[in-house]
Order: sequence, then C-alpha cells, then structure tokens
Amino acid sequence: MASIDDLDIRPLWEGFGVEVLGVDLATADAATQDEVVEVFHRHGAMVIRDQSLTPEQQLTFTRRFGEPETNPGAQFTIPGLQEVYIISNKVVDGKVIGNWEAGQGWHTDASYRERPTMCTMLYALEVPPEGSDTLLSDLCAAYNALTEDEKAAYDGLQIQHSFRALREMQGRKSAYGEEDLDDVVHPMIRTHPADGRKALWVSTGTVKGVIGMPNPEGLDLIERLVAFATEPRFVHAHKWRVGDLLIWDNRCTLHRGTKFDLDKYVRHVHRTWVKGDRPV
Ligand SMILES: [Fe+2]
Repeated sequence: MASIDDLDIRPLWEGFGVEVLGVDLATADAATQDEVVEVFHRHGAMVIRDQSLTPEQQLTFTRRFGEPETNPGAQFTIPGLQEVYIISNKVVDGKVIGNWEAGQGWHTDASYRERPTMCTMLYALEVPPEGSDTLLSDLCAAYNALTEDEKAAYDGLQIQHSFRALREMQGRKSAYGEEDLDDVVHPMIRTHPADGRKALWVSTGTVKGVIGMPNPEGLDLIERLVAFATEPRFVHAHKWRVGDLLIWDNRCTLHRGTKFDLDKYVRHVHRTWVKGDRPV
C-alpha cells in the first residue's frame, strides 16, 4: 500500500499546478489521500499520473475532497453511479456512449449554482494522440497582475450568473438533467478559503452582466477581463496521457477543451464533481 512517504510532488507549471507521482490511488491509505487533497487546495490544479481506477475507486477518492455532485436524469453516467459522468465520443453498438461536446469556451464549472462545483476531476481512459488538450487559466495570477486601481475597482463588484442564459446560448436542454435554476449573484473577486488568495473570478456562457452596471458596459467589462485572464501568460495546456487524473479548482481557474479529430480518434474520460461553498 502506498504511503505518504512515497508521494513525489513536483511543480507542474511555473507557479501553478502540481504533478503527483508515486501514488496508486486505488490502494493508497487515507492519510496519503488526505495529503494529496491538502496539496491540491493550495495549487489550483493537480495531475496524478499513471492511475488505474474503476469508477467506484474514482468516486471513493472524490469523496476525500467532499460531497460528490450527482447528475440526476443525465443520459451519460455510469449505470448505478450517477456521480460519474462519461465524456466520450466512443461508439458502442452504433451509439455514442458519452457527451462528446463538453467543455467549449472559457468557464468555471456550474457557476450558475448558488454553490458552484468546487473541483472537477477528469480521469483519462483513452486519449487522442493530438488535440483535446485541457487549457487551464490561473485566475490568482491574473488577479495579481491587475494594477492596484483595478483591484480596488473590481473588488466589491458582483456578477449575475444564469443557468437559463447558458441554455439559451447552447440552444438545447442541459446535458446534466437539471431543472430550471434561478439566476445567482457571485463576487467578481473571489477569496480562496484555503489560504485567502484572491482570484479574478470571471467566466463566459453563464454570465449575464455586472450588478449595478448597465449592459453592454457590464458584459463588455467581463469580456475584457476574460480576455485578460486567458492571455497565454496565465494559461497552461494539459497534454493528456492515458491514466492521468487531472483535478482543477473551480474557485481559482477557468478551463476549456481544445478540439480533436472526432472521426479519427477516441477520447474517453470519466468525470466527477465535488460540491462547493457559496463564493465569497
Ligand atoms: Fe467545464
């Protein structure tokens, strides 16, 4: 059984993210798993290499972070495990077995909820040899790069996030089987509960405007800030390997997928989500 002494933790990118080696999550003891969780809270993103996880084992590890989100009524979950969502373009018996268009456009997961998803965990079973990178932007680095005047101007602003706006933009019903949700209001500058670091917590897709600021001014501001926060200096591209478990912290990152050749390659990933707190 792997223990805490076997953990090999390295910076994954300059100032953001860690790579974890030397741990088999399927057999690691509770102390080792909790140390991994602890490290995660301070680094924004984590890739744990060379895993071999059943959906049940992924879910067990997910529970070390908190309560998993379920996907009630969703078409693409593991039978009997509503917490494990299948992102895949794989065809079995003439049918695609997962949601294959997940994750376009810069966003933070489920920001339309009062308690948005704390972290997202993707476990790669099959990956294309090219394309399908996951891009992560470091919203704390983006916040730190603002001028003092900008920080003062944005601290205290609030953004209206809307599930309905997202659905309208997508032109279809939610893939996660969610009912209509009322709009919610979250701060533009979000404080991380682990260590008080601040993030420029903007997003796209769910965003309807800035409270107290008429549109288009409000939406223009958000668009400008998303463009700023996703400048190449803040963005890290994760190149997938089979067996990678990538976890990102939705409290301080934006993410998006890149395209790949759907006719040529298979991408097959199991996703779990952990419930979060109300942003402050
Ligand atoms: Fe997402």
